[in-house]
Amino acid sequence: MLNIINFATFQELLREAEQRIIDLAKKTIAEKGWFTLALSGGSTPAPLYARLAEADLPWDKIHLFWGDERLVPLDSEWSNYRMIDENLLSKITIPEENIHIPLVDLPPETAAEYYAKEIKQILIPDLKTLDLPTFDCILLGIGPDGHTASLFPDSPALAEKAKLVVAVPHPTTVKPAVPRISFSFPLINSGKRIMFLTTGKEKLKIFDSEVKYPFQMVENADILFTIHK
Ligand code: 6PG
Repeated sequence: MLNIINFATFQELLREAEQRIIDLAKKTIAEKGWFTLALSGGSTPAPLYARLAEADLPWDKIHLFWGDERLVPLDSEWSNYRMIDENLLSKITIPEENIHIPLVDLPPETAAEYYAKEIKQILIPDLKTLDLPTFDCILLGIGPDGHTASLFPDSPALAEKAKLVVAVPHPTTVKPAVPRISFSFPLINSGKRIMFLTTGKEKLKIFDSEVKYPFQMVENADILFTIHK
């Protein structure tokens, strides 16, 4: 079920998102010793990452992944890595091996394959099970066309059943028009806790519409929403 939680201000939304992540990370680390977090790109989560950088979190026990990435150089203004680095990575002390950055200079199919392999190696270290890797927490956004991660309307990637990470050709509905890689819906839906962060009154149209948008293929999640940007 998708549960929309409405906030009066963006600051309140951020406070709640930050507290949820801190609580979940601490609880998960107390239970099993480590925590896996898939980060979303775009612009909305940037201030959340800046807040997390100030939080008291055991970063050596936290593994960070990217739910999607644009295949552009890491220093490009369009790079999700760059946004996450500026707001979070550059401000915290975290072992390099806990930061799982997608490889952006490979052909999309190969980049997707490599990233899926890395996810499996970290999340299912003995590789003896056929289970899907399960992230402790996945953060997502919603685009103006209803996409989430880099899963765009009408894309064949929406129907992916087997691959964990898909290669996505450049979108035509949003910028930047560059190829991307993205978690697939099977990988997203195996996540233990999924949280969307989204803002803006134009999203109300999407929430109320009869049309089924890609973000609605997420099965269970809280959508933290405010009309204010
Ligand atoms: C990406 C994203 C994407 C994003 C939405 C919302 O790389 O483009 O991960 O799915 O979350 O487009 O973006 P905004 O937060 O900028 O509205």
